[in-house]
Amino acid sequence: MQKRRVGILISGRGSNMQALVTAMRQPGFPAEPVVVLSNRPDAEGLEWARAQGIPAPAIDHKAYANRMAFEARVHQALLDAKVDLICNAGFMRMLTGGFVDRWLNRHLNIHPSLLPAFPGLQTHQRVLDQGALITGCSVHFIRTEMDAGPIVAQTAVPVMPDDTADTLAARVLAAEHKLYPHALHLVASGAVTIAGERVVMTPPIGKVPTLMWPPLA
Ligand code: GRF
Repeated sequence: MQKRRVGILISGRGSNMQALVTAMRQPGFPAEPVVVLSNRPDAEGLEWARAQGIPAPAIDHKAYANRMAFEARVHQALLDAKVDLICNAGFMRMLTGGFVDRWLNRHLNIHPSLLPAFPGLQTHQRVLDQGALITGCSVHFIRTEMDAGPIVAQTAVPVMPDDTADTLAARVLAAEHKLYPHALHLVASGAVTIAGERVVMTPPIGKVPTLMWPPLA
């Protein structure tokens, strides 16, 4: 089977990008990383990608007159790399409808909450402020609304009584690094279709035990 060609968009650390690239390098993974793009030239993830031999240019959004001009450049870079699928991995720019429509259902994002709960920034602090006992992370197809779109996969992560935003973020991040490669594998292998703005899995998923937190004693 032809591997899907993946472009990864980052803005910073790039730990999810590293998890995706590492997974794609395993034999039999149905996708390969072909380009990493950052809107910030100082994104730490760029050096790691380059060291892996992946083309990783920065496209500094500040160098463009407006959002459309920036997005046109990103779009062209993705076309030049013959990208089939885009994975946003800590990419901190909102994308306009024109870009989103061109990559519709070929463009994934990861968000550190159980969407549709807690979209947006300062996610973990808001989870703590609300007293939620279970949070998690979600991989979804991108739409124009922030952190919205058909959900491909989610992981539940417990909130501990003594958590701070940082300890919770670290626990969720460890789950993200497992979830994103799993979700990409599902999409790249063709197991995922979208019907009525919802993801349908082929083959369908069987019964699983209920997740409960705190657990029964
Ligand atoms: C992750 O928590 C991701 O879910 C969020 O931003 C963070 C990026 O971290 N969108 P990294 O750059 O992948 O390390």
